[in-house]
Amino acid sequence: MPKQENGQKGDSVIQNDLSESFEEEVRAFLSDEEKLHLFDDLTKVNPVTTTTVLRCLQARYRVNLFYTNAGCSLVALNPFQPFSCLYSPELMREYHVALRPQDLKPHIFAVAEQTYRNVQNQMDPVNQSIIVSGESGAGKTWTSRCLMKFYASVAASVISPKGNETVERIERRVLDSNPVMEAFGNACTLRNNNSSRFGKYIQLQLDRFHHLSSASIQTFLLEKTRVAYQAPNERNFHIFYQITKGATAEERLEWNLPEGAEYRWLPNPERNLDEDSFEVTRAAMCHLGIERCTQSNVFKVLSGLLHLGNIQFSNPVDESQPCDLEDKTKGFVKTTGDLLKIPVEELLESLRIRTITAGKQQQVFKKPCSRAECETRRDCLAKVIYARESFRVLLSRARDFCSFQVTPTGTAG
Ligand SMILES: Nc1ncnc2c1ncn2[C@@H]1O[C@H](COP(=O)(O)OP(=O)(O)OP(=O)(O)O)[C@@H](O)[C@H]1O
Ligand SMILES: [Mg+2]
Repeated sequence: MPKQENGQKGDSVIQNDLSESFEEEVRAFLSDEEKLHLFDDLTKVNPVTTTTVLRCLQARYRVNLFYTNAGCSLVALNPFQPFSCLYSPELMREYHVALRPQDLKPHIFAVAEQTYRNVQNQMDPVNQSIIVSGESGAGKTWTSRCLMKFYASVAASVISPKGNETVERIERRVLDSNPVMEAFGNACTLRNNNSSRFGKYIQLQLDRFHHLSSASIQTFLLEKTRVAYQAPNERNFHIFYQITKGATAEERLEWNLPEGAEYRWLPNPERNLDEDSFEVTRAAMCHLGIERCTQSNVFKVLSGLLHLGNIQFSNPVDESQPCDLEDKTKGFVKTTGDLLKIPVEELLESLRIRTITAGKQQQVFKKPCSRAECETRRDCLAKVIYARESFRVLLSRARDFCSFQVTPTGTAG
């Protein structure tokens, strides 16, 4: 018998009653399964619980509805299969010309169009930002590509032939920056075959007629550790597989990449992914204005890193001497030096000898490193070269081209 005081129910009894009636509401809401997919805005779900929200999203997913509003945010579910009609130019246009795009089905194009209109409507230009977030494999890169395609399409509709030319060029560069950045900054992980291993901040600038006038991309926190260490069943950055699989016979000679050669820093090369296409990266680099000779130099450096990774050390008999090189790896020191344009003696010294400056006179001492230290120095050298020389050289080359800026910033890992 529930305890009552002064004819009123006790707190715990009231709470029990409330929770029972709440559970009843949840059950009633979920019982109408046929209607769950109709909730295209999660703010309309009542009662709001993790279960009710997830069941609505699940019901929508089952009927191929991958976008759902949540107030002013958009929840995107990854279909994990291509739906070309979901991103067709016709659909882009439909959202672009709609009187009220927010009244159409929830879609990334609705967000893109609303943002575009927000810029247009202001007397003074007002910046608009779209934040794409989610766990690895959620579809952030895909979504960013969709947004860039949308703006490249809707902001490119200019009438003057001269204007058209300019915008087409920028539009093309905006889209071509994706395969290049993904080749150098993405890798196959356990969760995502094309996982971005860096962050990026993309800015698209519009002129006063709201046409695309320039773009800039800042990259940050590149996971450069991946160059020298890959977790089990993961891979290095795509570009390494692209050059080893896609180089021509002539390039193989020039870059010292014989067919079938094995590299310690290139695990799972037998896995063939769509992302392994060297041709796509090369074509995009050409469109970005990166000349063939610069491309070739970058690829030579990358090959040099693969050779560097094959250098292995063994403990010396006499501890006061630098570490020995394992016999089978001696040839890699020479090829690394050749490809990175570092004299072999200098390379060996930087890998095996530590220079210490001490004392008031700033005396310089040289101390042979242990085997573990040599390995760390080798890995660090590779990471620095990849982050600074490849990623940065490559991206800063693109910056030289008038209205397209690519600015790499700090790196980590
Ligand atoms: N809207 C979509 N339609 C079809 N396939 C999609 C869609 N979104 C994502 N995918 C698929 O899911 C994969 C992973 O998506 P994506 O690379 O965009 O994830 P991510 O959020 O960027 O992950 P990470 O944080 O690891 O970089 C894509 O390669 C693609 O195959
Ligand atoms: Mg990504």
